[in-house]
Amino acid sequence: MMRTARTLHRVTPHLMRRTAHEVGTPTYVYDGDLLDAAVRRWIDAVGDAGRISYAVKANYNLAVLARLARHGIGFETATVGEMCRVLQAGIPASRIILGGVPKTAEAVAEGMRRGVAMVVVQAAHELDAAIAVSREAVSERPARVGIRVRPGIRAGAHPSLETGRADAKFGFHPTDVPDAWSALASAPGVEPTTLAVHLGSGLEELDPYARAIDVLLPLVQRVAAGPCPVRELDLGGGLGVAYDDVADDLEPSHVVRIVDRRLAGLEISVRYEPGRSIAARAGTLITRVLDRIEREGTPALVCDGGFTDFGRYSLYGAQHRIEPLDGETEGPPTVDVLGPTCESGDRLGTDRPLHGVRPGDLLVVRDVGAYGFVMASNYNARPRPAEVMIDESGWRIVRARETLEDLWRGEVVG
Ligand code: LLP
Repeated sequence: MMRTARTLHRVTPHLMRRTAHEVGTPTYVYDGDLLDAAVRRWIDAVGDAGRISYAVKANYNLAVLARLARHGIGFETATVGEMCRVLQAGIPASRIILGGVPKTAEAVAEGMRRGVAMVVVQAAHELDAAIAVSREAVSERPARVGIRVRPGIRAGAHPSLETGRADAKFGFHPTDVPDAWSALASAPGVEPTTLAVHLGSGLEELDPYARAIDVLLPLVQRVAAGPCPVRELDLGGGLGVAYDDVADDLEPSHVVRIVDRRLAGLEISVRYEPGRSIAARAGTLITRVLDRIEREGTPALVCDGGFTDFGRYSLYGAQHRIEPLDGETEGPPTVDVLGPTCESGDRLGTDRPLHGVRPGDLLVVRDVGAYGFVMASNYNARPRPAEVMIDESGWRIVRARETLEDLWRGEVVG
């Protein structure tokens, strides 16, 4: 099996040292070539860039969005803020989906008024909003609407990442879908086209995709005789990344093969919304070691980057590779890698073979291009990190480190 490209092409140790020197730490660095390679794997597997909507929640830096847009793919957004970021990157509304997460009626209306390619509704009030807006709109083409289905499938790398389970907050129960579909089909300015699911994130097996199709197909058949048959299944994202770098990544082609086999002979198109599998490998977080402490049991490195900068260990126990930028890792004892804030739970990882690392050294946390910067916070009044892109145009800051003034923007004293 071919191994996923995970070597950083352009992000050399030299450029990471330069990054630390010029913009300080912690800083996110993105490799443009790895972003391209990951998108191309999806396009090669699906065969049509137009059927891929990158889930921008994974990483919505404007430079990342603009780079991905060159490949002709679409963009899935969860909020008006994400939608406006994509527009701000110079990408037209016609390439954007406003996706199936809980939304206000106002958000549904905003998406439709801006002319996005599709709004996915996932609750009755969103459906009502779509119908209400379609009545007032003077658009020539009916607005495309999808319905998110809650398939009742458990899948995902952590309970917080299981979004398709029966007790999840997302989507219509399958038995409610035919009525929701009919309501849209009989409204004047909207056209239901798509049944959507997102099973969960960090999937390490493919079976959930096949099971989702088994839930969706009877619904497709139920509405087939009506005025608006289902034209598209949107299977969401979910493909995991082997953060330990030991296992092989599942490839987009594996998902597509299973799905296409299940749908053989049917006239229905399939959309995918990958996030992590496009952005994760392209990102590295550089942090500097402030201190080395000897605790009872495990020694630890205290770094200037912590869970406010990269939260995936604290939130999901995700063990990303952490390596010294210079020098070799040494054998036991292993060390914990801690952040600088006022909580003992502030960790980047635990039990790492980083014995020889000293205060002042630089560490790199790998595969943080997805759900890294986007989940950073200002807790402890810490400015969020800078972001740097390295590609064929060279080295450049694509988001400046926040300043102290950024921390109180919009606040008033008394
Ligand atoms: N489509 C929808 C409707 C979604 O909710 C998501 C992710 C995706 C697509 C993209 O899924 P992906 O291919 O990235 O798995 N903060 C968590 C991830 C939460 C993802 C939620 N939804 C983490 O750090 O793992």
